[in-house]
Amino acid sequence: MIQLSEGANRIYGEAAFEVLAKAQELEKQGKSILHFEIGEPDIETPKNIAHVGIQAIQDKKTHYVPSIGILKLRKAVQDEIEKTRGYRPDLEQVIITPGLKPGIFFSMLAIVNPGDEVIYPDPGYPTYGSVTSLIGAKGVMIPLLEENEFRMNPDDIKNKITKKTKLIIVNSPQNPTGSVMTKSEIEAIAELAEEHDIYVISDEIYSKMTYETCHYTPTARDKAKERTVLLDGFSKYYAMTGWRLGYMVVPPTMAGRLQDFLVSAISCTAAFTQWAGIEALTGSQSFIHDMMTRFKERRDKIVEGLNSVPGFSCQAPKGAFYAFPNIKKTNMNSQDCAEHLLYKAGVAILPGTAFGPYGEGYLRFSYATTLENISAAIMRIQESFE
Ligand SMILES: Cc1ncc(COP(=O)(O)O)c(C=O)c1O
Repeated sequence: MIQLSEGANRIYGEAAFEVLAKAQELEKQGKSILHFEIGEPDIETPKNIAHVGIQAIQDKKTHYVPSIGILKLRKAVQDEIEKTRGYRPDLEQVIITPGLKPGIFFSMLAIVNPGDEVIYPDPGYPTYGSVTSLIGAKGVMIPLLEENEFRMNPDDIKNKITKKTKLIIVNSPQNPTGSVMTKSEIEAIAELAEEHDIYVISDEIYSKMTYETCHYTPTARDKAKERTVLLDGFSKYYAMTGWRLGYMVVPPTMAGRLQDFLVSAISCTAAFTQWAGIEALTGSQSFIHDMMTRFKERRDKIVEGLNSVPGFSCQAPKGAFYAFPNIKKTNMNSQDCAEHLLYKAGVAILPGTAFGPYGEGYLRFSYATTLENISAAIMRIQESFE
């Protein structure tokens, strides 16, 4: 019988969209569901940004543009990196993509060969493992432990490096745990990569979403000129998930190859979206501060609430908008507990195992929702266990 490719059978999806579909099915049957499964801000894109995007469509910015992005946005990203990461990349290093995700996909395809080893966090963002598997490389997971506040430990990475290690993926602030790595941990990883001649991809989609701490990048060490790739985007802290806009800062040797990936796969990122992105980077930034003030209040509320549920315990995450409670004392596994909460309490969340085997015993709550929903969810969860 005719067969699909081996890669097609190895790539995999994301549980968040599956749980959303199940939750929506229950809603169609008239059940009330509180949503904590999807990782996106509940807040609308700021008006000034949306306005520039709409104006750009009216100004007929609706045609093909250069595959690596329009010059004005690439220059704005150069300024942004200088302001936020402390080094100024060359223009040739900056590439615009439709969301951050294609940046993961294309840079991994550009770096990793079948049989290579890729080190990434577990629990971690599913795309890292999925693309590793698609390529036919071996995923080497670094467990994120609660006793280390779910931060990736550079010593664990060191112990897992072999001759086949080609790439380390770092994600801080982290999805699904909300952990934020320290400066010395980030530097230690960058040093290890240099010592062993390994690439680093740093997924910094939550870079502006920290609470009591700061965000650091492993790309500062080589200024993304040799072995590190910085990925960031507009989805989360500008509340622009649906606009599809992100960027990469890559070593010059990789830039030309990535351009050909983009030409072959997407032609270019939508022009009007890029104009909106220029406004996001160069306009008022007060939106982010206001959003993070609200998110901090929500974080405190959900952490307090989860800690009041018998069998649950939850650390306060230092970044992003995810809480990752330990549910081991309920004597349920993550999947059963997630289903219990969906069907018995009408609260949609993700099992920790949706992010890898080390997520067993945990759940992920995306608390980008109202304080009222958080209170209601905690009540429902408590009642469901009575
Ligand atoms: C760690 C991480 N990287 C990348 C993405 C995807 O970002 P984008 O929507 O810009 O492609 C997400 C979205 O949830 C994420 O959590």
